Amino acid sequence: MRLDKLLGQAGFGSRNQVKKLIRSQQVRVDGELALRDNLNVDPSLQDIRVSGKLLAHSTDVYFMLHKPAGVVSAVSDSQHQTVIDLIRGKDRVDGLYPIGRLDRDTEGLLLITNNGPLGFRMLHPKHHVDKTYYVEVNGALDSDAPAFFGNGIAFLDGTVCKPAKLEVISSSDTQSYAHITISEGKFHQVKKMFLAYGVKVTYLRRESFGDFVLDANLPIGAYRELTADEKNILKQYLD
Ligand code: URA
Repeated sequence: MRLDKLLGQAGFGSRNQVKKLIRSQQVRVDGELALRDNLNVDPSLQDIRVSGKLLAHSTDVYFMLHKPAGVVSAVSDSQHQTVIDLIRGKDRVDGLYPIGRLDRDTEGLLLITNNGPLGFRMLHPKHHVDKTYYVEVNGALDSDAPAFFGNGIAFLDGTVCKPAKLEVISSSDTQSYAHITISEGKFHQVKKMFLAYGVKVTYLRRESFGDFVLDANLPIGAYRELTADEKNILKQYLD
């Protein structure tokens, strides 16, 4: 939200009074003097002070979930358990939603928040957020595979994917293991890319999303609040 709007809502007066506060150098964001009233800020991610006094934190929450297979990446669903159903007790605040989607049978890293604009911002194509997946397939990933994925795969319907990075862990005629990094989020993208190569994905787990890495200590189905360092990562998406 804009700094002037936030300060207005926090009781620092009219737009003009707020402007004066900012011009008289009484407002700091993360320790830096705020010089523009239209600065985009987020009090749940930043330390915002007026005359040295910290603005009350908002009630925004940020969780990392290790999504299990079998639950859908939706807020509600008439047939299946959702990722939001996995958030329990006092953490189950209003407005929670997953940032992006994983297929029902995909496991791995999913961020969950009630910060409305954040998801849209993080998923905006201008940010080109890299996503890395661990993948198991039912056939060989031969020496030609990294170039095939790196050249930008075209689906049969004409959709062309951006170049993806494939790192084969091991390959045999019946089962292969790899990491793949993509920068887009097309529907069933990873599965379709491997189908285009000629093999079927039998297991998929998202290991990272931008600078977020799936916490190795987070059991499947469990979630935790983001750490202060992880919340810092979110700041790059404020603008
Ligand atoms: N690509 C897929 O095919 N499925 C997912 O769940 C995520 C990426």
